[in-house]
Amino acid sequence: MLAVSLPRLKDRLLALARFGALPGGGVTRMCWSPPHEQARAWLLGELKTAGLTTWVDPAGNVFGGLGLPRVSIDAPVILTGSHIDTVPEGGILDGALGVIAGLECLHAIRESTTRPPRPLAVAAWSDEEGRYGSLFGSRAFCGRLDAAAIATMAAVDGDRLVDAMGRAGFDARRAPEAAAPRGSVAAYVELHIEQGARLEEAGLPIGVVDSIVGVRRTRVVFHGQADHAGTTPMERRRDAFLAAADYALKARDLVVGRGGGRAVTNVGVVHVHPGASNIVPGRAELVHEMRDPDPDVLERLARDCEALAGEVAAARGITVELRPLSATLPAPCAPRVQAAIEAACASLGLASQRLYSAAGHDAQNLAGVTDSGMIFIPSRGGRSHRVDEMSDWDAIERGANVLLHTLLRLAA
Ligand code: GLV
Ligand code: MN
Ligand code: MN
Repeated sequence: MLAVSLPRLKDRLLALARFGALPGGGVTRMCWSPPHEQARAWLLGELKTAGLTTWVDPAGNVFGGLGLPRVSIDAPVILTGSHIDTVPEGGILDGALGVIAGLECLHAIRESTTRPPRPLAVAAWSDEEGRYGSLFGSRAFCGRLDAAAIATMAAVDGDRLVDAMGRAGFDARRAPEAAAPRGSVAAYVELHIEQGARLEEAGLPIGVVDSIVGVRRTRVVFHGQADHAGTTPMERRRDAFLAAADYALKARDLVVGRGGGRAVTNVGVVHVHPGASNIVPGRAELVHEMRDPDPDVLERLARDCEALAGEVAAARGITVELRPLSATLPAPCAPRVQAAIEAACASLGLASQRLYSAAGHDAQNLAGVTDSGMIFIPSRGGRSHRVDEMSDWDAIERGANVLLHTLLRLAA
């Protein structure tokens, strides 16, 4: 039975982990940054070494093709992939696993005598982590990018997408040209670490994803009044930070209380202005994120949080402004892809379980244009988006072999 080479897979994962490596472990390799662009150049070299054709689209997505020079409707492709960008202070597997395992699968097939009837390709999607825009590259590829929004897309520190892409040699305004022709992708399957603890706790090697959460991010800006922090009586202060803190706590309780069990929420970015210990904060900004697999629940929670922000601000005599940053759609995974993954698991003697993904993934954009699905392997301790994110090497090998045999089934 055809199998991946774990030594080659491991060598490549560890080689990729050097781009943006942090002294204490883990990586910071944000999309379009110098380490990311060095990793892109390295990846193109590895794809060529594996005997694949390569191309990079106007959204910066990198492709390696087996049996095709580009995506076209003449020969609909079976696509796999993930991303090589990371969050700040992230781990070495989130995204990297799906790209490198996809490359290894195509390398193993090319070296074998197996000639699948359909062409195969692996993609590394740009800015999956959404520094400048959630799931940017796959959104462009799937024709979901709002061209009018590109000029104003920016990171939370204000760095504009057009500037970041420009520094990396791309023209952001051309990104919508990455949209693939309808019907050019026959199916998509992505291997990823679970990033949670459900598989490990259940003692199961493989998760078959049945749906992926939607993620909404909103910038919540409280406008108070800056004042002297020593001389202004406490009862006269209109402290924007205290309103933001009050909102963060109450929004957490609202989402947990009204979300129906699966909804989660996070405030991962806080800016206080002007940011001096002797000035009452005149402005405080939060980036508030919410997730749920049910679009109706997400919509309802977003409305309730908007009302909450108004109430919190009014109670403190200040104002609040909500600016939507991104909203990805929850997506069901295709039964055909789930069945192919389960058949691959059965052929390899591996137990599996269906589960929903609590993390966002490019597969949810692909679900809008083709049959899309995902394979999860256990994450050690459920840890992810942190420097000690890891999975066992034998778990990685099992996941890559499930990906290989799923691709072969989908391409049959
Ligand atoms: C992707 O990593 C996410 O934030 O879910
Ligand atoms: Mn990821
Ligand atoms: Mn991630």
